[in-house]
Amino acid sequence: MLKKRIAIFASGSGSNAQKIMEHFKKHPDAEVAIILSNNPNAYVIQRADNFEVPSHVFDRFDFYQTDNIVTLLKKMEIDIIVLAGFLWLIPDNLLKAFPNKIINIHPALLPKYGGKGMYGDRVHNAILANGEAESGITIHFVNEHFDEGEIIYQARFKIEKDDDVEMIKFKGRQLEHLHYPKVVETLLKKMKSF
Ligand code: GAR
Repeated sequence: MLKKRIAIFASGSGSNAQKIMEHFKKHPDAEVAIILSNNPNAYVIQRADNFEVPSHVFDRFDFYQTDNIVTLLKKMEIDIIVLAGFLWLIPDNLLKAFPNKIINIHPALLPKYGGKGMYGDRVHNAILANGEAESGITIHFVNEHFDEGEIIYQARFKIEKDDDVEMIKFKGRQLEHLHYPKVVETLLKKMKSF
């Protein structure tokens, strides 16, 4: 039986992409087929090379004004698209080509602390400034709005009174690394013939 094929979109370091590549490296039923990035200097490209996973860099024109990315992903017979630190809004042609097959991870308990411009340290700074007692991570389906699709999975952690932004980020990242690969696997299992 053919393995299910995962495409990962990432704009930056790619620590989540790394965990997903590790998880599926020797998996009998699924594999990471390609890493895509809008940033040619993103460390995630190096990580892809280390795993001998092909990578593809695209620009704004490619992404928003052409069908090139859809064509590439269809040609590669991709089953699921995983956003891992990818910060551009997903265009309509891609959403329509992969309905309910694009997921994202966000470093907060959505619907709080989401939306345009809410990424990275901005999220954690806002959480700290508001004196929240807890935070967490959200994995959700992607739709035409930032951070608004149906929630698939959330995990939470307590914020201690001495926690700074770095600590909140660390706790969140630990949860992301633990859960994102497993959630991808669960979703793939729900698809036929896994
Ligand atoms: C992750 O913490 C992810 O939740 C966040 O970017 C980071 C990427 O880290 N995504 C967003 O803020 C999306 N709005 P990584 O490149 O090390 O995986």
